[in-house]
Amino acid sequence: MTIRDYLGIEGDNHLALHGVDLVGLCDEFGTPLFVFDEKSLVENFERFRRAFEDVYSKVMVCYSVKTNNNLAICRVLAESGAFAEVASELDLHVALKAGFRGDRMIYDGPFKPKDALRKALEEKVLLVNVESFSEMERLNSVAGEMGIEQAIGLRVNPFRSPSFFSSLHPNKLIEAGFCYPRCRFGFSLGEVHKAFEFLGEMKNLRLECLMMHPYTEALKVLLPFMKEASEEFGCEMKYLNVGGGFDPGVTGSTGDFPLMLDFIRRELGFGSSLDKRRIVSSIESVAKSIAEDVRRGLGDLPEPVLIAEPGRFIAGPSGMLLLRVDHVKVAGGYRWVLVDGGTNILPLIYGRRTILIVNRAAASEKELVNVVGPLLYPKDFVAIKMSVPRVKEDDIIAVLYCGAYSLSSSTQFLYPRPTAVLVSSEGKVRVIREKETFEDVLHKDKL
Ligand SMILES: Cc1ncc(COP(=O)(O)O)c(C=O)c1O
Repeated sequence: MTIRDYLGIEGDNHLALHGVDLVGLCDEFGTPLFVFDEKSLVENFERFRRAFEDVYSKVMVCYSVKTNNNLAICRVLAESGAFAEVASELDLHVALKAGFRGDRMIYDGPFKPKDALRKALEEKVLLVNVESFSEMERLNSVAGEMGIEQAIGLRVNPFRSPSFFSSLHPNKLIEAGFCYPRCRFGFSLGEVHKAFEFLGEMKNLRLECLMMHPYTEALKVLLPFMKEASEEFGCEMKYLNVGGGFDPGVTGSTGDFPLMLDFIRRELGFGSSLDKRRIVSSIESVAKSIAEDVRRGLGDLPEPVLIAEPGRFIAGPSGMLLLRVDHVKVAGGYRWVLVDGGTNILPLIYGRRTILIVNRAAASEKELVNVVGPLLYPKDFVAIKMSVPRVKEDDIIAVLYCGAYSLSSSTQFLYPRPTAVLVSSEGKVRVIREKETFEDVLHKDKL
């Protein structure tokens, strides 16, 4: 379910969530205002878990805390029975405070300082997913100092350098220019065998898991290594971790290349190529095909516990951001809607987001606009070249499905961070993050 399923229109033509008038919420808390829906948050988690448990016997769903690390959001998920995936010492701290026990956490990420590892081991985290030989040595020494044998996973990275000519493909060229930034995660395919051997020398580590993120290619890559670990090293994996990357299918984005093509199409008088609907497989069919692939690929190996680390799927569809329209201007042949929050509080994804008007909920006349935030970046886009209900100054818009990577990656650049509220299915409103004041922003500065 999504937050939209619980939206309705109340008396004054106002949008309401579980009967709570959203204009009233903006009057009380101001804008920008994050609104999270507790019911769809829990439903998304339960749907994800059920999709896997229906097709596979041993499943661990680890909510990716960085997606939305608000304490109350994390608490709701801990109480719903989620495990946690943490990716920094801060994440670990948040998860503990929210109520996740260490033995219901796995620790991911390419950067794990010694102190963070020590803290994780003190809290008895279930698994540390190791990404490099040096991290393995560091963790081995920390575990040794603490007299612990720590269970670990190896993160595998399927990256292979493309040839010069294939890197010239427009989709690959930007990545090539950036030195293929994803290649730095985990062990490359050529290093995994060496990592198995190296582990023989790491007396304080116990290999229990292979991991890859995102899930899309994980099994093709990991299953042969599971066999190799068992046949050549006598090591049978207790866990198989397919990472995150599960798309809830509610928010689209576009990129430089499609925008370029769209410009050319429009200039030549053809329709837009941006509004094609994306078809995303249901989580039930994704889970089914993962379970089938695991069973098919395992052969004689015992079935491992299947770990998934969803973030967006759970938090994304249950949040929305309410923004006030400051003004509308026409420039460069487009209508620009300037609102009071942008990429300071939303991820920059060249958004193809769903936008509704809060104070005139039944408005139907649409126009093509760019919705942009208050920052000074030219690309401070909330939505680009999108057909949205016609708005005017002081209207309030709701940007749906932005519960993921928004609050947790927001910045104080030019504006303090806004209030966030959590609305229950009974229409109870709880402030889960207070609006920052200017003095909050300055709080740690010294003259
Ligand atoms: C290692 C790892 N696991 C899980 C996730 C969550 O991914 P998503 O929100 O796409 O499900 C991420 C996101 O970057 C990640 O890096």
